[in-house]
Amino acid sequence: MDFKWNQWVLNALFLLAGVAEATVFDVKNYGAQADGMTDISKALVSAWNDSCASVEPTSTVLISRGTYLLGPVILSGPCKSSSIEFQLQGLVRAPPDPALFKTDAWVLFENVKGLKVSGGGILDGQGQRAWTSNNCSANPNCKELPINLKLAYVQNTIIRDIASKNSKYFHIGIFQSSDLTLENLNIYAPGSSPNTDGIHMSSSERINVTNIVIATGDDCISIGPGTRNLNVTKVVCGPGHGISIGSLGKSPGEAEVHGIFVRNCTFTNTLNGARIKTWPSSPVGAASNIVFEDLIMNNAYFPVILDQMYCPHQKCDQERNGSKCWSGFAVPVMGSCRGEGEEEEGDEGERDEADHGEIPFCYVYYQSW
Ligand SMILES: *[C@@H]1O[C@H](CO)[C@@H](O)[C@H](O)[C@H]1NC(C)=O
Ligand SMILES: *[C@@H]1O[C@H](CO)[C@@H](O)[C@H](O)[C@H]1NC(C)=O
Ligand SMILES: *[C@@H]1O[C@H](CO)[C@@H](O)[C@H](O)[C@H]1NC(C)=O
Ligand SMILES: *[C@@H]1O[C@H](CO)[C@@H](O)[C@H](O)[C@H]1NC(C)=O
Ligand SMILES: *[C@@H]1O[C@H](CO)[C@@H](O)[C@H](O)[C@H]1NC(C)=O
Ligand SMILES: *[C@@H]1O[C@H](CO)[C@@H](O)[C@H](O)[C@H]1NC(C)=O
Repeated sequence: MDFKWNQWVLNALFLLAGVAEATVFDVKNYGAQADGMTDISKALVSAWNDSCASVEPTSTVLISRGTYLLGPVILSGPCKSSSIEFQLQGLVRAPPDPALFKTDAWVLFENVKGLKVSGGGILDGQGQRAWTSNNCSANPNCKELPINLKLAYVQNTIIRDIASKNSKYFHIGIFQSSDLTLENLNIYAPGSSPNTDGIHMSSSERINVTNIVIATGDDCISIGPGTRNLNVTKVVCGPGHGISIGSLGKSPGEAEVHGIFVRNCTFTNTLNGARIKTWPSSPVGAASNIVFEDLIMNNAYFPVILDQMYCPHQKCDQERNGSKCWSGFAVPVMGSCRGEGEEEEGDEGERDEADHGEIPFCYVYYQSW
């Protein structure tokens, strides 16, 4: 490369960098301070709104390195920008007091297309105080606690290279969304923290979840009604309650779960491994095309739970409605299953009825079969 050419390339690069910079909406330019004490929620919403209104094809919201305090925020679209990068580089902490949250989310993205969240930062829900006041197991009308990161009506979105810790409730919640990728995430809370599911989803489709390390006090991943075409691979779970489908069929007319592939996941010191649970009166077809394979269980207490009689506290209509709630259900964990859990197999007839038979179970626990 001769000097002139070199200079031209450099100029071009500076020009490109300049263009890129013009579309970066840094919360610090909106008054945010990285002092860990000043609430940056107004600054963040303003930066988001400007980014969302930008007519550039790509715009970036930046929370740079440093420690910030952030109250609940709603980051909503639709946006003019067809692609928004949300660069979370800093450590962002939620206020510990759950009373400061009026809705079920701390950071909510809604009605957005083409969002990319990344940057290596951490969302710290500071859930310790909320966990001690969580009485949801005793009180069915308990106040909803906030999810660290909620996506609602979101499409074509990637969440990668960030961490979520100590959420007051679920860490990541996905509702009415489609075409999502969640990868390279680190999700953690103490094994004793209540309802801190890693990823929960419902009424959503075409989702890839891969390379995620999840250690929580509840399900690593919970898959609710209306989830379709989900691929989960290379998830490392534990402590936690495993990867769970359901509970399904509680209310009539519930959307079915279809096309769930869970592969190459490892469960270490978990309560469960792979679990699916439906209420007894669940109608036919509540779940189909479910595949769990190449799962490694390291000391999972109940590596596989197939429960068609899910009825906590016996408060439900226990009459079983049909036997084929699940079709195409396979759990070939044999070979890679190293569970130490209790073995409590149902008889062949029941097993066939439940899963259309010929499935090489490792350890199966039939709960209230
Ligand atoms: C941001 O946009 C939302 C909805 O578009 C609006 O309700 C809110 O007032 C805006 N907030 C700020 C600080 O600009
Ligand atoms: C649950 O906690 C809330 C708020 O702390 C309280 O008002 C309610 O009485 C509690 N309910 C039970 C059943 O403990
Ligand atoms: C999920 O991954 C598969 C295979 O890598 C890819 O073909 C598909 O487009 C991905 N889907 C989404 C929604 O990113
Ligand atoms: C999941 O993987 C299967 C192949 O195993 C593929 O056909 C399907 O498109 C994938 N789903 C998504 C959402 O990428
Ligand atoms: C699962 O792991 C096996 C062995 O390491 C590999 O051959 C296979 O491609 C992996 N599958 C997925 C979906 O990652
Ligand atoms: C049983 O399933 C059928 C549909 O297959 C539905 O019409 C009926 O309402 C269900 N019964 C109960 C008790 O849920």
